[in-house]
Amino acid sequence: MKAAMIVVEVVLALLLSYGAGHADCATTTIPQNSNSTADMLSLLDFRKTISSDPGGFLTSWNTNNSSAADYCGWNGVTCSRKHPGRVIELNLSSQSLQGRISSSLGNLTFLRILDLSSNMLAGPIPPNIGSLFHLKILYLDSNNFTGAIPSSLGNISKLEQLVLQDNQLIGTIPQDLGNLSNVNRLLLAHNMLSGSIPTIILNQRNLMILDLGANYLRMMLPSNIGHTLPQIGALSLYNNMFYGPIPASLGNASILVILDLTANSFTGHVPSSLGNLTYLYFLQLEQNNLEANDNEGWEFIDALGKCMYLQHLLLSSNQLQGAIP
Ligand SMILES: *[C@@H]1O[C@H](CO)[C@@H](O)[C@H](O)[C@H]1NC(C)=O
Ligand SMILES: *[C@@H]1O[C@H](CO)[C@@H](O)[C@H](O)[C@H]1NC(C)=O
Ligand SMILES: *[C@@H]1O[C@H](CO)[C@@H](O)[C@H](O)[C@H]1NC(C)=O
Ligand SMILES: *[C@@H]1O[C@H](CO)[C@@H](O)[C@H](O)[C@H]1NC(C)=O
Ligand SMILES: *[C@@H]1O[C@H](CO)[C@@H](O)[C@H](O)[C@H]1NC(C)=O
Ligand SMILES: *[C@@H]1O[C@H](CO)[C@@H](O)[C@H](O)[C@H]1NC(C)=O
Ligand SMILES: *[C@@H]1O[C@H](CO)[C@@H](O)[C@H](O)[C@H]1NC(C)=O
Ligand SMILES: *[C@@H]1O[C@H](CO)[C@@H](O)[C@H](O)[C@H]1NC(C)=O
Ligand SMILES: *[C@@H]1O[C@H](CO)[C@@H](O)[C@H](O)[C@H]1NC(C)=O
Ligand SMILES: *[C@@H]1O[C@H](CO)[C@@H](O)[C@H](O)[C@H]1NC(C)=O
Repeated sequence: MKAAMIVVEVVLALLLSYGAGHADCATTTIPQNSNSTADMLSLLDFRKTISSDPGGFLTSWNTNNSSAADYCGWNGVTCSRKHPGRVIELNLSSQSLQGRISSSLGNLTFLRILDLSSNMLAGPIPPNIGSLFHLKILYLDSNNFTGAIPSSLGNISKLEQLVLQDNQLIGTIPQDLGNLSNVNRLLLAHNMLSGSIPTIILNQRNLMILDLGANYLRMMLPSNIGHTLPQIGALSLYNNMFYGPIPASLGNASILVILDLTANSFTGHVPSSLGNLTYLYFLQLEQNNLEANDNEGWEFIDALGKCMYLQHLLLSSNQLQGAIP
């Protein structure tokens, strides 16, 4: 999987580099409003709800002497150059922090990157994170977040990466996430999400990585998915309750590198159109109810011979029978 991720990262880096040129111009439209006091108060309020900071990462977050009051120099805090005093990045990743996250985070309205991944923060994701209109990257993965995914996240129209995997999130995937027309990574794996994937999310033309593995999702995939996700590079739906056929249109998702449908209830033949996927590297279909009992059913094996990068092909625990041609 690691090697596969490297391939997908390379493909994605190439794709993302097309859009990178104009990414920073957005800042010119941010209205000038430097209210340093407000951002500092929000950070201090955030710190109050952190109950454990074993590495002392937040020790610098205090105002008891004038040099420390320069909160732009606090650990994990980056301020804007254009808009002095406005926090644009907050990165507290991997600090073993425990506690809830304060809703005052929603007041840091210039934030572009919020990375609280790999901690032990509990409690719900505050809905007012949805007011961080400039946010492009939101990493809350590998924590102990509970409750539902707030639908307000659908308001962050600039969001490009939404990573909430490895938490204890419940409920359905909100329709509103379909409003995130710039999202290219949507990683919600290893939660307890149920229901179906809102159709609108499967129509995100910029989506490159969709990882919804290890949840309780249950639906039939739309037959045109290969057309509605033209940029998809990695599609991981393992360990869920997807059923019905694997859509043949996936053969038209021309930059697909990883397709992981392990441990679901897919039925029917493996579509031989998958052989059209030039960059396919990782195809994992085991533990389903896929069938092959005649030449037609086995056609896909020949077709996959065209995939010159294919390294991982896993098909065990299905209803594949007879002689492999
Ligand atoms: C800055 O924010 C603080 C706290 O929200 C507020 O009391 C103060 O009036 C604001 N100052 C300006 C100049 O907007
Ligand atoms: C955050 O903004 C809300 C609404 O404007 C305000 O009531 C609250 O006091 C702010 N919190 C902080 C810590 O500045
Ligand atoms: C600085 O403030 C923090 C809390 O804001 C407090 O825990 C710490 O003891 C203070 N340090 C000094 C030297 O006063
Ligand atoms: C002020 O804060 C800085 C950074 O936290 C620390 O290195 C310094 O010792 C503090 N000075 C006093 C007088 O507390
Ligand atoms: C946050 O910081 C960690 C450690 O420095 C780094 O590995 C990670 O890439 C940063 N996150 C973002 C979104 O830049
Ligand atoms: C994580 O959440 C679960 C369920 O809410 C709770 O029992 C557990 O104590 C939490 N762990 C931490 C480290 O907060
Ligand atoms: C989205 O933002 C608009 C405008 O600020 C607001 O009226 C609406 O309540 C927000 N929706 C959600 C779900 O937060
Ligand atoms: C998402 O878009 C729909 C339709 O335009 C709208 O009704 C809904 O309020 C939007 N949600 C958010 C969170 O902005
Ligand atoms: C793939 O796209 C081509 C061209 O648009 C179309 O002719 C073909 O039927 C599609 N294949 C599938 C399996 O959807
Ligand atoms: C895709 O695969 C199907 C089935 O193997 C084949 O009929 C079709 O011609 C292929 N399309 C392209 C564009 O290679």
